[in-house]
Amino acid sequence: MNFLSLIEAKRDGRTLTADQLQAIVAACTAGEIPEYQLAAFLMAVFFRGLNTTETTALTLAMRDSGDVLKFPKDKRPLVDKHSTGGVGDKVSLPLAPLLACLGFRVPMISGRGLGITGGTLDKLDSIPGFQTTLPTERITEIVQSVGCVICGQTERMVPADKKLYALRDVTGTVPSIPLIVASILSKKLAEGLDALILDVKFGCAAFMQTKADARKLAKAMVTLGNQCGVNTRAMLTDMNTPLGRAAGNWLEVKESVACLDGKGPTDLRGLVLDCAAHLLLQTGKSKSPAAAHQQAEVCLNSGAPRRKWDEMMVAQGADLTAFNQKLACDHTAPVVVELKAAKSGFVSRCDARIIGEVIRDLGGGRLTKDSVIHYDLGVDQMMKPGERVEAGGTLARIHAAKDTDAKSALARFKEAFAVSPRRPAPGKLIHEVLI
Ligand code: URA
Repeated sequence: MNFLSLIEAKRDGRTLTADQLQAIVAACTAGEIPEYQLAAFLMAVFFRGLNTTETTALTLAMRDSGDVLKFPKDKRPLVDKHSTGGVGDKVSLPLAPLLACLGFRVPMISGRGLGITGGTLDKLDSIPGFQTTLPTERITEIVQSVGCVICGQTERMVPADKKLYALRDVTGTVPSIPLIVASILSKKLAEGLDALILDVKFGCAAFMQTKADARKLAKAMVTLGNQCGVNTRAMLTDMNTPLGRAAGNWLEVKESVACLDGKGPTDLRGLVLDCAAHLLLQTGKSKSPAAAHQQAEVCLNSGAPRRKWDEMMVAQGADLTAFNQKLACDHTAPVVVELKAAKSGFVSRCDARIIGEVIRDLGGGRLTKDSVIHYDLGVDQMMKPGERVEAGGTLARIHAAKDTDAKSALARFKEAFAVSPRRPAPGKLIHEVLI
């Protein structure tokens, strides 16, 4: 293959055929293209874009660059959720066992966090003994027996994305809609799904800062997912404020368990139930949005998803006794300090970007792919916009490794929160649904 002529074709704005895109992906996976040429190709795509046919061809070629999960025939539909990521976004944790209890199979292949956005696998790694690296055969086994698994991509799944994503990360070519679509959907399509719900976030702590950009990305993913035979929907959700009251790996596991216990913050519970309700509708298991919501709520309230969570943890190697002991602790970080309100009023700002940055800098997140995470650091008891606070009341608790870190986090948290005399107009969490 003359790879140079394909780079030139894309550089000049010409359309590539499915065969050409498949050849590029195959050669990339086999390591037959020098990285400088792949990087030039990615930059050409960044500037010239890909049309829908090209994006589909690239996505399918990437999906087929490695193993695709295969499941036995079963009346339980295969479903998953993908979020573009944010601060405090722990929806996957309570959602997977809830979906399993609703009669779905959930092969939830997740990722790690980078920068200010958290990653599901990092949260699970805070659980004693929990294995997030599983071989393909074990993934399908757990899905068949338990109903849900949450783990990382195996070495053999979508290897083309691994290579291309690493290159995009260092060549300024991550924010390209066709490349993002191909990257996310190739991984989701490799799960062999019947239905997929996407949570595309927008706002100061999201990958897509504006609602218009989030809509563009969501539209492209919904179109392509449906074209590839996976019933796909997307929600556009606000990520200017963290989701829930806790952010940071272990603290988010705790909050997820509270959600499964029927407690926890209402925004988290609402989003979990909405994701489940959409999947019930997408797979024809419910006939109306109201019925779907009720079905999801009755199931969550039954306590069965909480027991399913334990079952999934055990299947993935967790030490339940150690987990329960850890869960019973008020905090597991060495230092905990409180941010107090200087005056009475209503919380009018709880800035997800600043909070995410502080958690990352405390050591609860990664600055680079090789950073070592301290799982127990983060923030909890966060007050959210619209809530009343009295002078001296707690706006948030910071969990740090040492006093000096806690002190500097406290100073930065003063910028993250604002208290006003008037209650701000209530903000929406879910702004749109794209079908
Ligand atoms: N997440 C992915 O998996 N890929 C992208 O390109 C962006 C976000």
